[in-house]
Amino acid sequence: MKNIVILISGRGSNMEAIVKACAAEGWNARIAAVISNRPGAAGLGFAEQHGIATAVVDHKAFDTREAFDTELQRAIDAHAPDLVVLAGFMRILTPGFTAHYAGRMLNIHPSLLPAFPGLHTHQAALDFGCKFAGATVHFVTAELDHGAIVAQAVVPVLDGDDEQTLAARVLQQEHLMYPRAVRWFIDGQLRIENGRVLQTAGVAQQFS
Ligand code: GAR
Repeated sequence: MKNIVILISGRGSNMEAIVKACAAEGWNARIAAVISNRPGAAGLGFAEQHGIATAVVDHKAFDTREAFDTELQRAIDAHAPDLVVLAGFMRILTPGFTAHYAGRMLNIHPSLLPAFPGLHTHQAALDFGCKFAGATVHFVTAELDHGAIVAQAVVPVLDGDDEQTLAARVLQQEHLMYPRAVRWFIDGQLRIENGRVLQTAGVAQQFS
């Protein structure tokens, strides 16, 4: 049984999708803990209701990113994770932290990377007149939103879209794609070697 630790900062809907898929599909894994950097993160309530251990490591209590990451790493490693899942975790991570979890930390980002790393991705896609938008699951490296890509989901940008409508369309796809990608890792169908993603032939790539 593998241990998954999920990091959130807010709503936690991707975390919810992963928790539900893990239970419904009987993964060979358990969600060992949900950890937030924000004390009021709404997702903590869902985790508690589902009997999952929760913790808060409040970034505001630390003077430096290094000090925060050291405490966060301690909180994560207390659960002996096989995989760390960033699910709307909105902190920039230090190189020491990302190196510690190299090859065993995934992130979901709401754009078709390498387009639009960072914040305000949906508005950027609208401002550029993109015809398609989407989300990307990738391994985490020291460079923000730049790790090797595991999976992408694409949605159309429709006439009249604003940031909210586009974000909602993308989020639906995130909820399908992220549990799928996490399961690939848990099932040993996904790993990274020399910076390249290796996936077992035949894994699904469609998320509709
Ligand atoms: C999701 O859209 C996720 O892709 C994005 O934040 C949202 C979190 O929603 N992540 C980032 O922007 C990371 N750079 P959730 O808390 O409901 O899962």
